[in-house]
Amino acid sequence: MCGIVAYVGNKDICPLLLEGLKRLEYRGYDSAGLCVGTKAGFYVKRAAGRISVLEAAIDDKMHGDKALVGNIGMAHTRWATHGPPTECNAHPHMDDQQRVALVHNGIIENFASLKQFLTEKGHHFSSETDTEVLAVLIGHFYQGDLAKAVQLALREVRGTYGLAAMAVSEPDTLVVARRGSPLIIGVGKDEYIVASDAAAIVEHTTQVVYLNDNEMAVIRPGGFKTMTTDDIPVTKAINEVEFSLQQIELGGYEHFMLKEIFEQPEAIANCLRGRVDLHEGRVVLGGIGAYSRDVVRARRIIITACGTAWHAGLVGEFLFEDLAKIPTEVEYASEFRYRNPIIEEGTMVLAISQSGETADTLAALREAKDRGALSLGIVNAVGSTIARETDAGIYLHVGPEIGVASTKAFCGQIVVESLLALSIARRKYMSQNVLNEFLQAIIKIPDQMRKVLEQSSSIRDVTAQYIHRENWLFLGRGYNYPVALEGALKLKEISYIHAEGLPAAEMKHGPIALINPGMPVVFVATRGSQYEKLLGNIQEVKARGGKIIAVASEGDDYIHRVADHVFTVPETIEPLQPLLTVLPLQLLAYHAAVLRNCNVDKPRNLAKSVTVE
Ligand code: AGP
Ligand code: GLU
Repeated sequence: MCGIVAYVGNKDICPLLLEGLKRLEYRGYDSAGLCVGTKAGFYVKRAAGRISVLEAAIDDKMHGDKALVGNIGMAHTRWATHGPPTECNAHPHMDDQQRVALVHNGIIENFASLKQFLTEKGHHFSSETDTEVLAVLIGHFYQGDLAKAVQLALREVRGTYGLAAMAVSEPDTLVVARRGSPLIIGVGKDEYIVASDAAAIVEHTTQVVYLNDNEMAVIRPGGFKTMTTDDIPVTKAINEVEFSLQQIELGGYEHFMLKEIFEQPEAIANCLRGRVDLHEGRVVLGGIGAYSRDVVRARRIIITACGTAWHAGLVGEFLFEDLAKIPTEVEYASEFRYRNPIIEEGTMVLAISQSGETADTLAALREAKDRGALSLGIVNAVGSTIARETDAGIYLHVGPEIGVASTKAFCGQIVVESLLALSIARRKYMSQNVLNEFLQAIIKIPDQMRKVLEQSSSIRDVTAQYIHRENWLFLGRGYNYPVALEGALKLKEISYIHAEGLPAAEMKHGPIALINPGMPVVFVATRGSQYEKLLGNIQEVKARGGKIIAVASEGDDYIHRVADHVFTVPETIEPLQPLLTVLPLQLLAYHAAVLRNCNVDKPRNLAKSVTVE
């Protein structure tokens, strides 16, 4: 979902900006551009398509010529919302008097009325974007003080922004601001690098400042000031970024998604680290802190999320009701935020988000907080907006997830929900023995994941037999029902095959009409409370010619008699089965995408973090 990189310092600025954009590619985009201050004014270059197209268009003189190139610049990857992804609509946009340049992530919701006002004032436009309207508005207010002009313009704006702006007559000044779209300031040695995500910063510095909504910064070679967009000075702490550059690199894998699938044993070990005390038989969740009493006394839990995080939330619904005996419901954030939700005394809202920047989830969180709910975040990206706006929270600590298709974050979210549910349960009903059994089971998960992942090549061989089939079904029951939904989403989003996930019993209420000879139907069929019922569902599909691909428990000999293909997972307690049963489905989706020559890490139309509505 688009990205910004801006720099103030003495390095060779064009290569630095382009490298920074490449670190943000995984967020999804459709065009790119940059603006660099030079002794001869602004150098602006924009291009539709990949960053490599922009890179090829950069004039040779812009590489390393310190006599020409200045020390301030900014770059942008666009995910089009207003106007097609053309060079003309790509950022940066300048005002019609060519005095101010702007890059922007987000949506200016009242751009039409602002455009009409500015047109009546004699201004003109050259693109179809909402961003250009903001650029012209800043230019309209500009009288030699860029920060002031940005502040005056933002007072008129409704909508979301992460922005960086430069002015021709202030060659040493970079102004950045945010509302609803992330911006981080990397504080280096005599240099500053601003970006939408720390991935573009960590190779330069791990010291960062996180801007909050309605905050801005004025950055110059000698230093930076932070203030609200109403010009009230704000003191900001400098934080340490947790992950390193090599964690972002591919590490020898062909795709980030494959790397992150195979990282899951280590990632889950990291997620568990320091949180499971086997000796004392307890769960340790530091991030809950002062709210632990409120958490235990919660009378209702609402989980709100999107996409894969929502599927993890559905597992959480089962976990909190099953273990902590608290009524729990999982809500699509995009629906929850507009539904006028009922939030009574004792309601706790869990916002689950890998990126911590998903607009719908953030809005749902704010809606719940406004209505008095206690809010907890289950987030991967440290310092992200959702992480900072919740009352308390638990980080996944699974490391940066670069592939657009979420994998290790899904498992991390389930582990964190399990730990939270256990922490509450033990302080309410759960006996020490039952807790100990659970803890013994959860610490085995990383090694058990390794065993499942060893089946990758056989999963590829099976997948290859069905990649021409354009319709798949994924079916599961109980804790594995959300896994069926997740498996279907994975296949859809990276191989573009249509797939539907369902509770297995629901099939007979209509979808069974879809079954035709040879149709691949994936059953998550591990041994558990509903195993026998699931075998019945398998027979229903077989009777209609469907091909059965089963994820089953090790040692289950019977399943081999009824299924056409079987992937096995080690035995574990039912609430933890999703952590193992999802792995073959992640690999199935991955191999299908590769076999269909799809762009695994950057699927069409998708973005890693959906920061617009
Ligand atoms: C899942 O593979 C997708 N990338 C998407 O559904 C994602 O889970 C969703 O957009 C939520 O993102 P978040 O976890 O960063 O909030
Ligand atoms: N709404 C702006 C546009 O369409 C910015 C989109 C983005 O966030 O990249 O140009």
